[in-house]
Amino acid sequence: MMRSLSWLRRSLYSLVNEIPGSLEPTDESADQRRTQSLKNKNKLRVCLPLMPLLLRAEKIAESAARPWSLADNTVSGGDTIPQQEEACKGNCDKKKTNKKLPICKEAPRKWRNLSYHWSTQARHPSAPKLSSLGASMAAALALAALLPFLLYLLLKPIHSFLWRPYRLHLHFQAQRVRGPPRRPPSGNASDIRALIASAQSSPIPSFHHDIVSRVAPHYHAWSAAYGRIFVFWFGSRPRLAIGDPALARAVLMDSSGDFEKTGFNPVSRQLFGEGLVGLKGPKWVQHRRIVSPAFHMERVKCWVPTIAACTLKMLEKWVKNGENSYEFEVDVHKDFHNFTADVISQVAFGSSYDDGKQIFQWQEELMLLVSVSIRSLYIPALRFVPTKKNRRRWSLSRKINESLENLIQVRGRECENSQNLLGLMLSANKNEGEEQIGIKEIIDECKTFYFAGKETTANLLTWVILLLALHQDWQSKTREEVICVCGSENLPNAEDLSKLKLLGIVLKETLRLYPPAVALNKLTSRNVKLGKLNVPAGTQIYIPTISIHRDADTWGADANDFNPSRFSKANAHYTGLFFPFGQGPTICVGQTLALVEAKVAVAMILQKFKFSVSPSYVHAPMLLLTLQPQFGAQVLFKRI
Ligand code: HEM
Repeated sequence: MMRSLSWLRRSLYSLVNEIPGSLEPTDESADQRRTQSLKNKNKLRVCLPLMPLLLRAEKIAESAARPWSLADNTVSGGDTIPQQEEACKGNCDKKKTNKKLPICKEAPRKWRNLSYHWSTQARHPSAPKLSSLGASMAAALALAALLPFLLYLLLKPIHSFLWRPYRLHLHFQAQRVRGPPRRPPSGNASDIRALIASAQSSPIPSFHHDIVSRVAPHYHAWSAAYGRIFVFWFGSRPRLAIGDPALARAVLMDSSGDFEKTGFNPVSRQLFGEGLVGLKGPKWVQHRRIVSPAFHMERVKCWVPTIAACTLKMLEKWVKNGENSYEFEVDVHKDFHNFTADVISQVAFGSSYDDGKQIFQWQEELMLLVSVSIRSLYIPALRFVPTKKNRRRWSLSRKINESLENLIQVRGRECENSQNLLGLMLSANKNEGEEQIGIKEIIDECKTFYFAGKETTANLLTWVILLLALHQDWQSKTREEVICVCGSENLPNAEDLSKLKLLGIVLKETLRLYPPAVALNKLTSRNVKLGKLNVPAGTQIYIPTISIHRDADTWGADANDFNPSRFSKANAHYTGLFFPFGQGPTICVGQTLALVEAKVAVAMILQKFKFSVSPSYVHAPMLLLTLQPQFGAQVLFKRI
């Protein structure tokens, strides 16, 4: 009992010590500090009153547990009585037969209280009774001390999982925001999984672009039932879907910090680490400042020859594979993934795809495991359980980190003075003070760019080639433009790219209909007003980009059709309602690279090939962190 009490007191003590803000300053924003300090106050309110009670109970338990005799001068366990006590032993012995309490006046004050029980035990015939009385007193005191703590443990889940969601539910209901019924403990997470599984069980019968019901079936079903603004639940946390374009824009454009990034749970963090995509607050500002210059247009233009060389490598492989046939099939989805991996390896890290090939493969496997966990309710302790999936995730994560560390060491020296991403980060590593970033942070940024730079752009390329393969009229028009601007043999150069207007609007229309990032999530950092809605702090905002990009009021009755010319008119009313790269302060840092990469690759494909959708292609767009074809993208190519 004594050990448990002591452990409990020490744990509480370290809990109080760990509370940031209560003891030491942090570098968080004022709002984060305010929220944190509220939580801290609650912790302190529970912990601090327990301390003296626990200390007292611990002492009593200690005394009850350690009968000791003044005669042999030791306590059980071999502790020796201090010398001062030795000095008074003679006096105490004289009173051996005295039934009165044997408190020794000469003993130092701090020992007197303790020796009361010990000496009583040693001399009094009823000592065992007193010992058990002491133990029960200690137990009672301990219980009294623990009661608030136990109550806290009991009430906290009730508050978090029942009371708070119930109040939030009433809060939204009062504002006429409805939604699917919440099913504790998962909320609607299992409904979403079931809807997605059902949507993915069969492909879309024909190649059309009305795909929301397959890609975001939960949004499709619930917005039809409850309107464009509704609330659904992930565990005990509400998610407010905002399908209204104007309100969505207000959320994305906010720069006051009311709507912040949602952040990642520790499982998703394995994929991105503490990279830019998941960072918030001052750390995000610092990393964004370091990373942004690597993606400015002037820098990206310098990479055009590298991108063209990577494209040529891919096309030569296609030609070789289809050497003996008039027409040949390529699953472009696979090849575009290798291509974008090659480009990001070279432009961001100065290495070839082969150097990082293994890392990409591990990242892809990790992505599959993480995307499964994102759709499930996050239960903190479960990630420590050595299940097969968890062990694989740990092993992949460890291997990726080690390989990136090696790559940085090998490439680092060569990159140090270059202006690629790794070079910029390594120079920042040498800075002092606020602008310095550590090797661990560089590794995490590399992970982010390997993922963000490869997945999204590969998917954009996949969809644009499929759409041009389907819409032959647009394929012909765009090819004419490319040949007019670049010729039929020359590689496109940086100056050519701005002249490829038709190709530009084809890319935009592809990003409208098939945005690689299907939805955006934000989190309210405090109670906020959104239009007429009062949204409580801690609410996740779900913005269905893919649906807003099809809003008939904005895009017209043909919103689900492929019609790039809608972007050719100076349509000011689209501004802010088309956001494949996000909007506002956290807008995609790599968008210029993505668009330049796509323009170069598509222009070169158009120069060399005519293409159409293969009969083996099955139209089945699905969301696996990004929007991709479930069964590949088979396209038939003919050399021009
Ligand atoms: C077609 C290609 C791409 C699409 C559709 C895309 C889309 C997005 C979107 C929607 C966001 C979130 C914006 C927000 O939260 O408001 C984002 C963020 C980001 N993207 Fe991209 N992206 C693409 C390509 C790239 C590339 C090539 C890179 C880098 C090599 C990149 C790096 C990033 C990073 C680092 C962020 C986080 C920005 C921040 O939080 O400050 N992306 N991207």
